[in-house]
Amino acid sequence: NPEELDEIYAFAVDLGKNAGRMLLDAANLRFGNDRPEDQAHVEKDNAVDLVTQTDEDVEAYIKGQISKKYPTHKFIGEESYSKGASRDYLIGDEPTWCVDPLDGTVNYIHLFPMFCVSIGFIVNNKATIGVIHAPFLNQLFSACAGRGAWLNETQPLPLIRDPIPPMPEKAPSGCVFSCEWGKDRRDQPDSNLHRKVESFVNMAAEIGGRSGRGGMVHGIRSLGSATLDLAYTAMGSFDIWWEGGCWEWDVAAGIAILQEAGGLITTANPPKDHLTASIEDVKLGSRLYLAIRPAGLSSTESGRQGQ
Ligand code: IPD
Repeated sequence: NPEELDEIYAFAVDLGKNAGRMLLDAANLRFGNDRPEDQAHVEKDNAVDLVTQTDEDVEAYIKGQISKKYPTHKFIGEESYSKGASRDYLIGDEPTWCVDPLDGTVNYIHLFPMFCVSIGFIVNNKATIGVIHAPFLNQLFSACAGRGAWLNETQPLPLIRDPIPPMPEKAPSGCVFSCEWGKDRRDQPDSNLHRKVESFVNMAAEIGGRSGRGGMVHGIRSLGSATLDLAYTAMGSFDIWWEGGCWEWDVAAGIAILQEAGGLITTANPPKDHLTASIEDVKLGSRLYLAIRPAGLSSTESGRQGQ
C-alpha cells in the first residue's frame, strides 16, 4: 500500500545516507593513511574482482538494519553472495532488498572518487525503490515508483533536459556513451571482453567516421561503477550505457531511478539493437543491460514513454 511504500522509501534513504557516511569515513582514513591496513583487499573470482573490509562492514550494517525493521523481507547482497549465500532465492515476487555495499570497489581501492552504495528494493520483480549514495561526490540519487526520482532529494531527474532525444531511432547525435570493462577478462573471440572492445571501437568510429569528421558520438566513458553509470544516465549526462556481465546488485537501485526518471533499460546490445528496445525487455538477473537516458520530460510524463 502507498503509505507502506513511503515508509520503506524513507527508510531506504536514511540507510543510504548512513552507509554512504561509513564509506566516506573509511575512505578518509585511507586518504589520511592513518590506517594502512584499510588499503588491504582480497581477490574473489579473479585478480580484478576485489573486496575490502569496508564492503563487508557496510553490507553487514545494511543487512542488520533491514532484518531488524523488515524481518520478512528477502535480502540479496554482493558480499553475502560472494561468501556462498544460496542463490536458490533470487529475484521473485516477494519484497526483496538488493544491495551493493560498495560499487566501484576498484575505484575505492585506488582512491578514485567514483564509488557508492547502492540499495534497491524490488517488489513483484520490479525495481521499485532505489537509493544510490556517492558520498565523496556528495550525490544522493533516489527514486520511488510513481513518486519521482531526485538528486539530493530536491532536484528532479533528469537534470539535463536539452537536447531532447525522444526514444532514439539512432544513437543521438552528440551523445556520450558509457561502457564498463567488467571483470571477465578472458581473451577469447566471444568473451565479454571482446564484445566490449568491439562496442568501444564501434562507438568511437561514430566519432570520426571514415573521413575522421563524422561527429556523432561526443565521447566514451568508463567510470568503474555500473551503478553510477545508471545514475548519470538518469541524470541525462550519459545518453547510452551498456554492460554485459553485471549482477542484480549492481543495477537494481539504478534501474528504479532510471525508469522513474523516464529512461529506458533493456537487455539489448549496443549500438544497433537498442533501436528495437522496449521497457518490457528488461529482466533483473539477465546480466546484460543497455540503458538510454530520459527524453527530458517530467518524470510523470516520461513514465508513459514506451508504453
Ligand atoms: C563492479 C563495477 C564495475 C562493473 C562490474 C561490477 P563492484 O562492481 O560496477 O564497473 O564493470 O560489472 O561488478 O565489484 O565494484 O561492486
